[in-house]
Amino acid sequence: MKKSCFWILFVYLFCFLEPLSAGESKYLIWENGSDSSKNKAFRLEELEAKGKQIIRSSYFDKGMGLKETRLTVVPFSRMLEIFPPSNGMDSILMDGEDDYQAIISLDQGKKYNLYWATKIQVSAGEKKPDWMNPLALVVPNSSSPPDVERYLPANIKNLRYVRWEDYYKPITAVLKKYPKHGQLGFEAFGDDCLYCHSLKGIGGNKGGDLTKKFQFSSKSGQKGFVQAFGIKHYNNGQYSSVEEFVHEKKAQKIAEFLSIIKKN
Ligand code: HEC
Repeated sequence: MKKSCFWILFVYLFCFLEPLSAGESKYLIWENGSDSSKNKAFRLEELEAKGKQIIRSSYFDKGMGLKETRLTVVPFSRMLEIFPPSNGMDSILMDGEDDYQAIISLDQGKKYNLYWATKIQVSAGEKKPDWMNPLALVVPNSSSPPDVERYLPANIKNLRYVRWEDYYKPITAVLKKYPKHGQLGFEAFGDDCLYCHSLKGIGGNKGGDLTKKFQFSSKSGQKGFVQAFGIKHYNNGQYSSVEEFVHEKKAQKIAEFLSIIKKN
């Protein structure tokens, strides 16, 4: 065979094989503070090899408006066995493909008996949203959802072991100066908004930093925020579930909390 033909064959084979390997995407896990050479890449098959099960989750189905989705899963703690965190790391931070960020403490993940979904198969005739892909965290029927796990983190690409306290430090350091204020709003924001609205450099960025969009220093500015929240997040198909957790009073608490953060 002439040399050039060899190369053409090689290139052809490479192009042909490329889409196949691209389908087996890799996921990254590392520890906060460690250098990037310590990042570990893994494939979902490696997780599954440690013992997969197929389950149903009515919490998942309800959230997604689906019925009887088949979820191939491995227990939350399996990840910790395969990639053991070092001492002091008490939480896992999840970066989604879709520009959101979620955190769960290792204790909650175990206590609520959560699972990592490695395959999501909807029933015949139903359609899975494009973004609903593994890796996803799911709540089995035998358990109830933890507070911070309301938005079904899916499409997770990166996992990072962190310390809970360190993660929230940019915010708690500010609140420390106002011991009587902002705590309730902070809790609500952490549970329900940080996932998509970044603040002080943490959280997801799907919905942007709200302190950059509203004037919180005046009562009318705060009112404008509460109204905008209602318009965006109540009765609006895609995000309708927020109303279940955050009523107007809570949104007002969030506004007070954001006003403290904004001026610091
Ligand atoms: C699942 C993601 C998600 C969650 C969770 C979420 N938001 Fe949003 N939010 C968005 C997106 C996306 C927008 C639209 C941003 C844009 O248009 O630039 C938005 C817009 C808003 C707006 C209107 C301002 C604007 O830019 O249009 C307010 C106010 C708001 N969100 C408040 C909240 C509060 C308060 C919470 C928590 C109780 C929350 N959001 C939770 C994704 C989210």
